[in-house]
Formats: sequence, structure tokens, C-alpha cells
Amino acid sequence: MVSRVIPVENFDLVIFGGTGDLARRKILPGLFRRYCAGQIPENAQIIGAARSDEGDEGFRKIVGDAIREFGGGRHCEDGTLDNFLERILYVRVDAMGDDGWLELKDRLRSDVVKAFYFSVGPSLFGALAERLRGFGLADDDSRVVVEKPFGHDLETARALNKTLAQHFDEHQIYRIDHYLGKETVQNLMAVRFGNMLFEPLWNAQYVDHIQITVAETVDVGGRGGYYDKSGAMRDMVQNHLMQLLCLIAMEPPARFEPDAVRDEKLKVIRALDPVDYHHIARGQYSADEHQPGYRAHVGDPRSKTESFVALKCHISNWRWAGTPFYLRTGKKLRGRGSEIAVVFKDAPHSIFGDEAGRHSNVLAIRLQPDEGMTLDVTIKEPGPGGMRLLDVPLDMSFAEALGDDADEVPDAYERLIMDVIRGNQTLFMRGDEVEAAWAWTDPIIEGWNRRGEVPKPYDAGSSGPEDALMLMHRDGRKWREIKA
Ligand SMILES: NC(=O)c1ccc[n+]([C@@H]2O[C@H](COP(=O)([O-])OP(=O)(O)OC[C@H]3O[C@@H](n4cnc5c(N)ncnc54)[C@H](OP(=O)(O)O)[C@@H]3O)[C@@H](O)[C@H]2O)c1
Repeated sequence: MVSRVIPVENFDLVIFGGTGDLARRKILPGLFRRYCAGQIPENAQIIGAARSDEGDEGFRKIVGDAIREFGGGRHCEDGTLDNFLERILYVRVDAMGDDGWLELKDRLRSDVVKAFYFSVGPSLFGALAERLRGFGLADDDSRVVVEKPFGHDLETARALNKTLAQHFDEHQIYRIDHYLGKETVQNLMAVRFGNMLFEPLWNAQYVDHIQITVAETVDVGGRGGYYDKSGAMRDMVQNHLMQLLCLIAMEPPARFEPDAVRDEKLKVIRALDPVDYHHIARGQYSADEHQPGYRAHVGDPRSKTESFVALKCHISNWRWAGTPFYLRTGKKLRGRGSEIAVVFKDAPHSIFGDEAGRHSNVLAIRLQPDEGMTLDVTIKEPGPGGMRLLDVPLDMSFAEALGDDADEVPDAYERLIMDVIRGNQTLFMRGDEVEAAWAWTDPIIEGWNRRGEVPKPYDAGSSGPEDALMLMHRDGRKWREIKA
């Protein structure tokens, strides 16, 4: 059973870059699914904006094709797509020029929520913000949504924040990290702060360590040029993995409200110790007889950019002093999966003796695929073999729990766009959070560059380089398996 859909206020949403990949794959199909679910008012307007000359009809065709290709609502009635397409408009606008802005302004209504989605490269954010204000399209209540990457380092992130702040107040800026829109991520907060069961154990006294893994099977694909200037640290750790780390490690906020939650996340980032470079493993997938390797994919035979990174870090506060956090992410690994695992300490004394075996409880939160949670509990191995211990998972799969309704759960983009219209920033990153995250990752990257470090090769389809395994082995621990 899914919770009741609460329709949002009437709105005009302008998608700059409405013809681009992200808009076609995620934003537009997501909006359609919310429309099918009855969450979008009948007379909302969705306006695509880009430089090509599509016209309303041309853009409606692009949107219709995108919805057919990338997934519409399963339970949509016949004719819903046609109705939805009537909500779609298009204006030709160049972010860097002055044409089209007045036409776009004419299409906006004064008495509805106005949101502007910057689904374009970050180099255009400043120009868009300036013209939105300059041509009087945006007011003090309008919202702007910006995509990752938010900066390349602390300096560029600060510059971007400064530029946006010249035109919009922080309460108007929605920095998207789609990981925060995932159902399980919010469930993580519900599990932590809605139950008495876990929170008393959620600290260094009871938690041995925490592992966060985001594993991909894909290579860099068509993004080679971008990726090679970025690497796994900037592309994944600085945003997605750090956000997950914050949610797992933060103190309970006083209320589930945007700044209360974001204040607590910021405290976690600021309490992170600098990472010792011995506690980092960096890798690059190599070629084999079947496929080219990373360097061929990015077209640079000497590239020193990592497609894999694993690291151990510590949070210096009362709750977590002494509990390591291990983060790992990479491309071309043996399986695709994102998981947070809270590994509890062993019982202090085994009354069953060593031969019964020793086991620790693990709470694993799966973000993808098959969102859900597993709690490994130690029980007696059934049968006549004496007192031997065995771990059994208490498994909660969202898909199974929801049955036929699983399809009705909004995906991350759907949820986040609806939050923009509602004016709820809880699941968006605040400017100071992003800067603090860069302030922590920058010295790691600078260290690699200063030492001229070359990432270690790893086989496509493996779990990453040997160094990553050693990072855990040295501490007498091991990574959870990346399932194929
Ligand atoms: N694709 C993804 O899965 C993904 C995931 C996460 C984040 N992002 C981020 O989302 C943003 C968009 O990515 P994308 O993959 O959709 O890029 P894309 O496929 O290259 O699309 C870019 C869009 O921007 C428009 N555009 C380019 N220059 C413009 C200008 N001067 N004025 C107005 N419109 C302009 C393009 O249309 P015209 O050329 O016709 O103007 C096109 O609609 C980027 O910041 C990217 O980093 C993308």
C-alpha cells in the first residue's frame, strides 16, 4: 500500500535544456508519471526551453517519444498522454543571448508557483539566473533547480554559490542530488528516528564500522570527456556517498524540517577528519580481450583519473569517535548495487563457546536495485547438530511489501520535483553543505595530483583493485560482497 497522493499547487515549470538527455530520460517521464498519479493539477504548464527551433508541436513530439521510450505510468488511462501533452509548451531561448526571454515571460502566469529547472551545463547557470531576474521572469518566490555537478572544487562551488546568490535567496535554490530522493534514503531517516530500536545502538559503542558502496557495472559511456576531468571522487564521493554518510551519521534533528536536517548533515561533514592517503585505494578498469579499458574509453592513453575509489574515514565527535566509515564506488564492477551496511560489534562474550561460531548483526540498507532493508540476526542453526550459530536475514523488500503498488512509488526525480513545487528543501543540498564537502575532498585530490599518483588497474567485472581489499583486511574486516 502506498501513501495517499497529495496534489501540489498549480505551477509553471520551465525546463532549460528541455530537449537534453536528462530532461528526456528523467524529468519529463517523471512529470508524466506524477500527472498520471493525479499529483499535478490539470492546468499546470511545463515549458521546455533550449536553442533549437522546436515550437510547441515539435517539443510535444519529443516529450511523447521520451515518455514512450523511458517509461510512462503503468496505470495511466488511455488518452492521459494526450492530455498531458496539452500542458507542454516550448520557447526558443539562448541562455547566453537576449532573444526569446520576453516570449517566455509572456507564457508565464502570475498567480502560480514558478520553478526554473537548469538542466543545462553549469557554465550556463549564471547567465540563466541573471536573465531570469533581468527580464523579470522570476520573483522572490520563484524557485531554481540546479543539477550536479555543483562545482569542480571548493573554489568553483563558491563562485557558483556566489553567482546564484546575486539573483536568488538560498531558500529559492534547489541543488539536486537525486540520491536524496530515493525512497530508501528517506526510509533510513524513518528507521533511525521513528523507532526506539536502533537509535540507542547507533554509536561507536555498538557499531563496529559502516560500509557504503555504490557499485556500477557500466563504463564511462558517452560521458568519457566529462568523466576524465572529474573521476569517481568528484563524480560520486563528493556528492552521493557523502550525502549518504551524513544521513547515516547525523544527530537526530529537532524537527523534520529543511534547515534542521541540513544543519545536522553539515555538522557531520565538518567533523570528518582529513583522510590519510594510506587509507585510500584508487583504481582504473583495464582492458581485456573482450572490451577496451578506461583509457581507451576516455581517449587518453595516459589518463590518471580514477574510475574507482575506496577510502576509510573517521568522524570526530562523541557519537562516532573510533568507528571507521568505509566508502567505495566504481565503474565496471562485477555487480550494480548501492548499499549502506551498519555492522554491529560482536557480543562481548560468547556463552556458546568458540565452536558455535561468532556472528555480528548487520543492518543493510539497499538503495538499488530492489530497494529494501535486511537485518542479519544470529540464531541457532536448526537441527540436531548442537548449539551452532547462524545468521539469518530479516528481509524487507519494498517491492514485495508493496506488491502491485510498487510501481506507484515515485522515483527520485519525481519526488524531488514535487518537493520543489511544494517549496520543501529538506532533500536538497544547501550551499554551505556543498562547500564543506568540497573542502573535505579537495585535499585528497590535490594530494593525488601532487604525488603524481596513478590509479591501480583492476579487471572489469571484479570488485575493484587489490588495494581496496587490503584497506579492509588490514583492519581485520572485509567488504560485503558486490553481487553479480
Ligand atoms: N544526463 C544525465 O543523466 C545527467 C545526470 C546528472 C546530472 N546531469 C546534468 O544535467 C545537465 C544537463 O545534462 P544533459 O545530459 O541533459 O545535457 P545535454 O543532453 O547535452 O542537453 C543540454 C540541453 O541544454 C540545451 N542548451 C545547451 N546550450 C544552451 C544555451 N546556450 N541556451 C539554452 N539551452 C541550451 C540543449 O539544447 P540546444 O543545444 O538546442 O540549446 C539541451 O537541451 C548537466 O549539467 C549535467 O551535468 C545530467
